[in-house]
Amino acid sequence: MGILIQGGVVVNGDGRRPADVLIVGEKIAAVEAGISPEGHTVVDASEMLVMPGGIDVHTHLDMPFGGTVSADDYTTGTIAAAVGGTTTVIDFALQAKGHTMREAFDTWMAKGIGKACLDWSLHMAVTDLGEGGAGLREMEEMVAEGISSFKLFMAYPNVLMIDDGLMFQVMQKAGALGALCCIHAENGSAIDVVVGQMIAEGKTAPHYHALSRSTKAEAEATHRAIALAEMAGARVYIVHLSNEDALRELRHAQNRGLRALAETCPQYLVLSLEEQMPGKSWEEAKYVFTPPLREKWNHEALWGALEDGALSVVSTDHCPFRFADQKSLGKDDFRKIPNGGPGIENRLQILWHFGVNSGRLSPERFVELSCAAPARIFGMPQKGKIAVGMDADVMLWDPEAEYTISASTQKMATDYSMFEGWRVKGNARHVFSRGDLVVEDGRWVGEVGRGRFVKRAVASAS
Ligand code: URP
Ligand code: ZN
Ligand code: ZN
Repeated sequence: MGILIQGGVVVNGDGRRPADVLIVGEKIAAVEAGISPEGHTVVDASEMLVMPGGIDVHTHLDMPFGGTVSADDYTTGTIAAAVGGTTTVIDFALQAKGHTMREAFDTWMAKGIGKACLDWSLHMAVTDLGEGGAGLREMEEMVAEGISSFKLFMAYPNVLMIDDGLMFQVMQKAGALGALCCIHAENGSAIDVVVGQMIAEGKTAPHYHALSRSTKAEAEATHRAIALAEMAGARVYIVHLSNEDALRELRHAQNRGLRALAETCPQYLVLSLEEQMPGKSWEEAKYVFTPPLREKWNHEALWGALEDGALSVVSTDHCPFRFADQKSLGKDDFRKIPNGGPGIENRLQILWHFGVNSGRLSPERFVELSCAAPARIFGMPQKGKIAVGMDADVMLWDPEAEYTISASTQKMATDYSMFEGWRVKGNARHVFSRGDLVVEDGRWVGEVGRGRFVKRAVASAS
């Protein structure tokens, strides 16, 4: 009558122990040693770690951006996520300037419903508050719809960037509602000046995208966002923090007792300006995303922050564009290269291989960063833990499985991988999403469109 995952070691963010896991319907019904298999379908988990499915809180599926649309839609993107061991994603609805949040909400719900193959939710990116405070009232509606986090862009002038006044108003309202403010922290105005100067000097190659966006521009905006959030009484979460200068600002705030949170992404932990973008070829357009790749020495600082808790989450910022016919929009001008990279499928492989196998992270910390903290911070109390009563989002992780990452075998819809040819050890074997077996021996076996929209609560900032 249930599914019995037998003989594995259950790993949660706060501990691990040998135990069987019984799934009945959509929920976890028991977690204990020696559950009788009588009447249940048994899944052998010996030699495996049984962990909560990953939660990726930063994805851009089917998103119009940079003159094109991100290559993965809600079907291909969530299947790729599942194969990589993720069971929930939080994507971004983008409010267009001059339009309402309700329109953005409806547009993104239509993209996901019937197409998402995993549970999913949305942040609302606010770009306009309309007349007479209409936008602030809409924020209340969004929270009632289950959108408990608002995204604010300090970069991308004329498209998504908002000024400090608008940001401050949104933060005040979010603070009053108990919602979280997620910030893309880069000084977009200063960066735009540098970009203009580079183009005037004929510096049009992808490499200059990276050089035009300094770590100081990220650090300044990180500082400003945290300061404004403190003034406004809002909880703040810095997205895709990429370097030590920005990290210093975060740590400074945390040392003052502020509850400022931040994530980083695999690309900032294992890829670098020197290695992937030395300024030699057009191929480097594959790594044009924002913030850009940084010098390699920043890796150490970011890993240290994952270890000591200054950084709370590892997400992907999955924003995939094909090299052949999408990145090529900027062949002669880096400003026109759609910003973003594919990573939804590889997050856990990279974090395990370079984090756990290297001894930097314990398996518990791996679960905390990729799953437990995201569930807590983003208001999904039913997810992020293997425990009785929780959603049966369960991943069987084989720590000995070796795997070569390649665009030729990936599920993501891009024609390249940022980690092409990398051999990693540790991979998802089977994945259950609310009790459904969706990945078996690394292959998608679930039903397309089965994902459910998750209404999220306003959450605690722990
Ligand atoms: O380059 C990126 N990161 N593209 C997606 C949009 C964003 O800034 O997160
Ligand atoms: Zn961003
Ligand atoms: Zn993003």
